[in-house]
Amino acid sequence: MRIVLLGAPGAGKGTQCKRIVQRYGLLHLSSGDILRQQRAEGTSLGKKAQSYMDAGQLVPDQVVVQMMIDAIKKASAAGFILDGFPRTVNQAIELDDSLADNGQAVDAILNLQIDDRVVAERMTGRRSCPKCGAVYHVKNLRPKVDGICDNDSARLVQRYDDSLEVVAERLKTYHQQTEPVVDYYNNNGRAVFDVDANNGADEVSDLIFQKLDAIAEA
Ligand code: AP5
Repeated sequence: MRIVLLGAPGAGKGTQCKRIVQRYGLLHLSSGDILRQQRAEGTSLGKKAQSYMDAGQLVPDQVVVQMMIDAIKKASAAGFILDGFPRTVNQAIELDDSLADNGQAVDAILNLQIDDRVVAERMTGRRSCPKCGAVYHVKNLRPKVDGICDNDSARLVQRYDDSLEVVAERLKTYHQQTEPVVDYYNNNGRAVFDVDANNGADEVSDLIFQKLDAIAEA
């Protein structure tokens, strides 16, 4: 299966992707995670991305598109789930064209819908494991021991772009540049499956699994 997972910052894309890859054996490709990895390694791509990410703006398409198309090539026959990509209509077109060159297409487009007022609470309470990437929330999805990762006991950290000011900018960017991607798919006869992401994480997973099970069985 080849899946695109759309949604605002903090909608729960990363949280749901971890569950989806466990159930369906897909490769999880998060553009944000790959960019953060490039930054941590100090590559030229990471340096180009840094100022945009810190400001809550999108990294230019010409940087992100090639990075993601290269990453997709590493997926096995089981497929992949794209988390945070495409994020502009141009990225969506480039993705379609690249897959079509290999006789492929996206099988499912999921759109996590969340109210803006919920986003700030999700973002400011998020804590992540710098070692294994597990994501928690100080109230909603707590680790067994406060501040410590359940998987490897590493001390949890807060992301640099989760301050209220940067979150506001990320939301603005989302509404202006990423919401039109949903229209792009709908206008091209590609069904987008909307999921109410204001619900708890387990309820959101159940809705997604119902849809993906049906696609996998078809
Ligand atoms: P990226 O890393 O993709 O950030 P994002 O889209 O803003 O999404 P997040 O990772 O912040 O949130 P999420 O939806 O994964 O939520 P999570 O599961 O963590 O991008 C960062 C930056 O990189 C961008 O600003 C941009 O600069 C650049 N970039 C990335 N991709 C790009 C692209 N394609 N083009 C250009 N630039 C790009 O959940 C959030 C919190 O809520 C967690 O604490 C979690 O535990 C909790 N939670 C999750 N689900 C629930 C629930 N149902 N109920 C209660 N709590 C929940």
